[in-house]
Amino acid sequence: MKTFPFIYNEPRQFLSSLQGKQWADFLLGEINPRFSVTTIKAKVVAVREETADAKTIVLKPNWLWKGFRSGQHVPVTLEIAGRRVTRYYSLSSLPKDKYLSITVKRQKGGLVSNFINTNIKKGDVLELGDPTGHFTLPKTLPSKFLFLAGGSGITPIHSILKQLAANQFKGKATLLYFVRSFEDIILHSSLEEIAKSTGWLEIKYIFSDVPKEGYDSGFLSKEILQKYTEDLKSYSVYVCGPAPMQTKALSLLEGIDVKSELFLLPGQTSSKVKKTGTVDVFLSLSHKTIQVKGERSLLEELEDQGIYPQSGCRMGICHTCVCKKAVGSVTDLSNGEVSELGEENIQICVSRAESNLELEL
Ligand code: FES
Repeated sequence: MKTFPFIYNEPRQFLSSLQGKQWADFLLGEINPRFSVTTIKAKVVAVREETADAKTIVLKPNWLWKGFRSGQHVPVTLEIAGRRVTRYYSLSSLPKDKYLSITVKRQKGGLVSNFINTNIKKGDVLELGDPTGHFTLPKTLPSKFLFLAGGSGITPIHSILKQLAANQFKGKATLLYFVRSFEDIILHSSLEEIAKSTGWLEIKYIFSDVPKEGYDSGFLSKEILQKYTEDLKSYSVYVCGPAPMQTKALSLLEGIDVKSELFLLPGQTSSKVKKTGTVDVFLSLSHKTIQVKGERSLLEELEDQGIYPQSGCRMGICHTCVCKKAVGSVTDLSNGEVSELGEENIQICVSRAESNLELEL
């Protein structure tokens, strides 16, 4: 027979055996908001300012957290103005660190990134999901890496660099970090520390908006790549940044083994808007027709009109927003491809209306 001390010795088993996990969750939440038998919850143990518009949130997860691989991202769910919203953020810490970290930069119009930067403080509890993503190191390490980071795209690369340092990597790595200005460099001191303590990492900061003496200015180009690499084909290349940088990198690195992670920012499109005026979108499940401009993703344009379909990452990764398009054409914002007019499933967070549409929503 189980005795009372069992509760203390094996609390997980005890709580899992309770009738109804929701009830157990409620009970646990009363004891400590981080405790749960159903949900990964993490307490904010520190908030560090990285730049004027980016913060690192250090998190202590509960017992349901199973770990992650450097380069992966994690869904973070928050309640904002009574609405549960989820966004994916790359983990900037090392898997074996005592705590997890996400580093979040404010995005123009970004509901969650601005909320986190303004409101999240030590002691708050966030809900996490399982980490996902293939932007990770291979089992056998190549001898040369080239990392191309743009803005907050540095976060998974920072974790990967820490992992290489922990693995006592013996090769050579070059990081070209494209950022608006010196003041916008995220995780600056940590990057410098990795370079200094390991000796195999060369970092070049390239500023797009505010030039600085002694540094390169501009965007990713063939000239910059030629300046800092020799024999591109000999590198294993990792790219993480916004869509224009991603597209440029993939065109410059054609034929080379590239791992890439796209950051599609709110309102960002990867190809030019050609049309003017509006298109009709018929929502077949709710028997409603709305007009959208076809200037941003369908998800954003629906939300503008008070319609909130299910969504998660909002950048084409998690598939939470997939819905059936019965009729009409959309542009896939992650690669600029225009779809056929017929029936298919689309991810509305990375699809922009090209013609009148019928969606199963
Ligand atoms: S919300 Fe994740 S794929 Fe669209």
